[in-house]
Amino acid sequence: MLNVFLVVGARPNFMKMAPLYFALEKAGVFNPVIVHTGQHYDYEMSLAFFEDLELPEPHYFLGAGSGTHAEQTARIMIEFEKVLLQQKADLVIVFGDVNSTLACSITARKLLVPVAHVEAGLRSFDETMPEEINRKLTDGIANILFTPSPDGDKNLMNEGVDHGRIHRVGNIMIDALMTILETIDASYEKTLLQKLNLKKSNYVLVTLHRPSNVDDRDTLAKILDYLEALSKKTSVVFPMHPRTKRNMEKSGMNVGRAAGLRIIEPLRYKEFITLEKNAMFVLTDSGGIQEETTYLGLACLTLRPNTERPITVTEGTNELVDLSNIEQESEWSQSGNWKKGKIPELWDGKTAERIARKIIEFCEGSRSGQRRAGDA
Ligand code: UD1
Repeated sequence: MLNVFLVVGARPNFMKMAPLYFALEKAGVFNPVIVHTGQHYDYEMSLAFFEDLELPEPHYFLGAGSGTHAEQTARIMIEFEKVLLQQKADLVIVFGDVNSTLACSITARKLLVPVAHVEAGLRSFDETMPEEINRKLTDGIANILFTPSPDGDKNLMNEGVDHGRIHRVGNIMIDALMTILETIDASYEKTLLQKLNLKKSNYVLVTLHRPSNVDDRDTLAKILDYLEALSKKTSVVFPMHPRTKRNMEKSGMNVGRAAGLRIIEPLRYKEFITLEKNAMFVLTDSGGIQEETTYLGLACLTLRPNTERPITVTEGTNELVDLSNIEQESEWSQSGNWKKGKIPELWDGKTAERIARKIIEFCEGSRSGQRRAGDA
């Protein structure tokens, strides 16, 4: 059996890991080991996702917690190194672009453990985003690069990456999305919408947590003003990320005067997808939500100057907006004339299976390489 370590740390990692964990388990030749770095630690940001995704508890929990980028990254590296020195790993798999992704890639490669990166090749070309640094450095050292879309392959090739390391396998987020959608029935939907006093297709779902939107007081205040104005016309539900909440509290901001604006705690995966699929449109700065809405054919307004997921704009239902055109775009999205979009190639729920097959090929290849080296 091959010991394959799946590393996760922050909320968007969990749904990317789950389909692969199950595909590896099913393949019968792997011992999949889950390592949770503890970058996210609140129940609703972390373990609630394990429950909804029916994952077992993590085999290792590193308890890294919050801090500055250097503090968080360093703590994860120190703790992950201890794990790798204690239990032999044949491969480490990292996901996405969070600090845990980079920290564990560096740690594994320095201990000569090969690394596979799921969601490789995405680029916003904006190095003010910490995720862009994490993406570039992880792709720079990972042995196997699993890309979700052709733009990922192109970005890697433009950076001079050897073709042999790149494997286009599709979007693993969509595997998880398709699985959870099957568990959401009409009565679950009705109960949740009733609980939140929302009507199907009659509310806007908002998520905002990027430092560029929520760390600067004036920017955050302008966004909240816009949401208050919007909520006078239609219901707005905003499951608030702890980073956004903390920044609002720090600067003494208070919203909620407008009756239609509902700021609620972060939702678990199944609840969030239910709200998303029934929304009129979504306003976000998340990466994964741009992809989910493209799959669902739902209008998505992304409050960012760029995206590392351009296919959601060129093929999907996503548009980038800023504070100067957000009102106009949100009216357009309610007009029924929003672009229809299509589901990109290989976003079909079979990405985890394709990755598992490639990993088997990779492990067989490196074993026969080792045997040949031993024979020589
Ligand atoms: C991280 C990722 C980001 C991802 C986001 C999803 C990096 C650089 N950023 O950003 O790419 O889109 O996760 O959520 O890795 N906090 C809690 N409870 C928690 C986690 C965080 O209260 O469970 C608070 C802490 O005050 C912390 C702050 O949120 O300081 C930010 O958390 P952090 O993990 O540093 O970054 P995110 O903004 O969550």
